[in-house]
Amino acid sequence: MNSLDGKVALVTGASRGIGRAIAHQLAGRGALVIAAARGDNARGTVDAIAAAGGRAEPLTLEVTDADAAVAAVQGIATRHGRLDILVSNAGITRDQLMLRMKRSDWDDVIATNLTAAFVLCQAALKPMIRQRAGRIIAISSVVGQMGNAGQANYAASKAGLIGFCKSLAREVGSRQVTVNVVAPGFVATDMTGAVDAATQAGWAAQIPLGRLGTPDDIAAAVCFLASDEASYITGQVLAVNGGMYT
Ligand SMILES: NC(=O)c1ccc[n+]([C@@H]2O[C@H](COP(=O)([O-])OP(=O)(O)OC[C@H]3O[C@@H](n4cnc5c(N)ncnc54)[C@H](O)[C@@H]3O)[C@@H](O)[C@H]2O)c1
Repeated sequence: MNSLDGKVALVTGASRGIGRAIAHQLAGRGALVIAAARGDNARGTVDAIAAAGGRAEPLTLEVTDADAAVAAVQGIATRHGRLDILVSNAGITRDQLMLRMKRSDWDDVIATNLTAAFVLCQAALKPMIRQRAGRIIAISSVVGQMGNAGQANYAASKAGLIGFCKSLAREVGSRQVTVNVVAPGFVATDMTGAVDAATQAGWAAQIPLGRLGTPDDIAAAVCFLASDEASYITGQVLAVNGGMYT
């Protein structure tokens, strides 16, 4: 895989789980990674990247604060003169069966998983279009492709990301900005860790490869889409799900 030397990458939700692994792998390939998280939560990711010889900066960002998100992107473009890669990864669940789902469960998930991606992508497009180059990668979910009982809000947000990215890919392809989606299956992180072992074993039984994914499995797909090898790929959904949904 080509090096990402000289590239500047912004990764949201980089404090743990999939976002942390993405930040690590992008930095391992030479990118300067802006690791965004709420409060000071990206500090651990940045320190670990530095200890491994990579380059990273922490950025405090609550992704639902649209003004802060736009200012953060503008700040990166001003400080570093460019923004090459945006990975919109931050996400939440507020699972509930539909009849019991509160309006706030719906609104919070849509705001974090979908509207924040819209705001960040709109801001990131400015430097990317100026550069005539850029990579936008959104982290969706197998749940956005197949649906899941108890996750109508989450599935809607993740399916929305797919339609959003496919549309954006058509708008900005002529500027050599690619827009793709990675759709993980079930991945062992804090997000899935709250689920009991029996349910997790049930998931593994539905997965042809026989195990949950790891954050590194997802990060490798993101790095591919960020690489020069993926320069002719846009508007695609790369499923990284062990074969559980094809
Ligand atoms: N774990 C899975 O099985 C799985 C499967 C498919 C998709 N995903 C998606 O992958 C992404 C990462 O998930 P994960 O499993 O690493 O989850 P996680 O809960 O371990 O990490 C989510 C990250 O997003 C951050 N975040 C959440 N809301 C935020 C906000 N408002 N502002 C800033 N940061 C915020 C959290 O602080 C955390 O760093 C999410 O978009 C998730 O929906 C996860």
